[in-house]
Amino acid sequence: MLPSKVLEQRLQTAVLAALPDADVSTVLVRPCQDARFGDYQTSALMSLAKARKMNPRQLATDVQAKLEVTDLCLKTDIAGAGFINFFLKPEVLQDALMGAIKGEHLFFAKAEKPKTVVIDFSSPNVAKPMHVGHIRSTILGDSLARAFRLLGHKVVTDNHIGDWGTQFGMLLLGWKTMLDKAALAQDPIAELERIYKLLSAECKEDGAKLEAAKLELVKLQAGDEGNLGIWREMIALSQHQFDTIYGRLGVRFDHTLGESFYNPRLKGVVEELKGKGIAQESEGAICVFSDGSVPPKEDPFLIQRDGEWNPNPCLIQKSDGAANYATTDLATLEYRLETWSPDEIIYVTDGRQQLHFKQVFTVFRRWRPEVTTRLEHVWFGAILGDDGKPFKTRSGDTVKLADLLDEAEERAFKTVSEKSPELSETERKEIARIIGIASVKYQDLLPNRQSDYVFSWDKMLALTGNTAPYLLYAYTRISSIFRKADEQGIKVAPGAKILLNAPDELAMAKQLMNFRFVLEGMTEECRPNYLCNYLYDLAGLYAKFFETCPVLKAEEPERSSRLLLCEVTAKVLKQGLEVLGIETTEKM
Ligand code: ARG
Repeated sequence: MLPSKVLEQRLQTAVLAALPDADVSTVLVRPCQDARFGDYQTSALMSLAKARKMNPRQLATDVQAKLEVTDLCLKTDIAGAGFINFFLKPEVLQDALMGAIKGEHLFFAKAEKPKTVVIDFSSPNVAKPMHVGHIRSTILGDSLARAFRLLGHKVVTDNHIGDWGTQFGMLLLGWKTMLDKAALAQDPIAELERIYKLLSAECKEDGAKLEAAKLELVKLQAGDEGNLGIWREMIALSQHQFDTIYGRLGVRFDHTLGESFYNPRLKGVVEELKGKGIAQESEGAICVFSDGSVPPKEDPFLIQRDGEWNPNPCLIQKSDGAANYATTDLATLEYRLETWSPDEIIYVTDGRQQLHFKQVFTVFRRWRPEVTTRLEHVWFGAILGDDGKPFKTRSGDTVKLADLLDEAEERAFKTVSEKSPELSETERKEIARIIGIASVKYQDLLPNRQSDYVFSWDKMLALTGNTAPYLLYAYTRISSIFRKADEQGIKVAPGAKILLNAPDELAMAKQLMNFRFVLEGMTEECRPNYLCNYLYDLAGLYAKFFETCPVLKAEEPERSSRLLLCEVTAKVLKQGLEVLGIETTEKM
């Protein structure tokens, strides 16, 4: 077992000995920021003491007296207001590293209480191209799903595609009157987008056209077989194109239950909300209003205008009787609870949907107060162009995801060809594919997700700095050591151990041991940037080690020890990148 895990168990035992009634699930250790203060520390005793009006340092002293960790630690210290710091024995660190070599663990442990987590992400709209706005949802959501899975949680990924709504009136009319079949066969979403744009422009001018489009929508909603058939075809064509992109990104979903899947439930949701007095009629529509239970500032059903708080209701049925986005999300919630009984549901969308989710979650809590499932809107900022405005093509159109990935691969191919002309074209193409996709993903995962970031080809493809190519390059450097070792007939000596005599070796070993905390932090806060920064630091420590500690040229037992250290570092880099959805390459 990982030393930090064992320490947590021993600490919990000691706390229970001192405070038999304590909830020790929050009694955990974290790495010390400053190595001078030890390897791990716990701050949990301070909150336990506070809740009991005890002196925290006294509690720390009592717990320390009951702690049995002499097999693991050189010493423990009490510090500050009531921290306990732990100093690991070097051999414990070495054993943990050897455990990773033997494949017993990779510096993380599966969750003791696995959760069921539904992750709703990507969720593009039918008949519209996936654009850069969907890229962040797809990339962030996929990475979160990978992290939760790695930690042993049960993950259900669900692509909530937009396959229902008023746009289908115009799409149907367009399909019937202006469809270019050849263009549809070539690039279906582009053709669907073309007819949609044309018709919505025409409908603005021409009232009769608008009426005709509405009629098509009504027919669709009433279950007209002809219109349903066309609608299904539009979904299938779009799905096919989405799948091509998911294939390139290495993203997969357990379910793709689009908005239309919930249509049969919508009436029931509205009726229940009305019946329970949660929703009311207002000007022909059905809405949920503020219940005054929270201060106006925190109330999602109020909006401030000219210094006054005004109603900002959540619409669940329009005056024409149609349900909308919020109703669908409520029905979706109900379905997910029935089907998967999740502990947590995570929605990954851009920040503009914050109000929507606040309203939906609040309505849901009023509707189902007994449900304890954690609902989380994991929102993200925009991707900006150099001008600080939303990222667009030169001609001002929204950038399509497929074009973006093509360009990333092309640019990477140029660089790889310049740097490694000796590789075959097939090899260079494959490496460029990996680097190109990795760069787009990493640029997206690295910033704090709630910040906007400026899209930059030069920055994301750079070999230096906190970038995907830098991390991939670090990985290839380790791979090349093993290739060279092979060529020179060098093998790890049987029974060799990791020694950690040099400061740079020790620093790397400690960073490896922290992998667990980064993965746990990433899933707790839904922030893949924690992992990006961790891997960047690990690669930096590796670069330092590489400078100061010869590997193949060293004498035994150093040589074998360092080869082993390289091996575990490569394993963690590869695993970490995999959690980010990034493939590695042995050469570049
Ligand atoms: N289709 C929506 C959009 O493109 C995103 C859906 C997000 N998920 C949800 N359950 N509302 O904006």
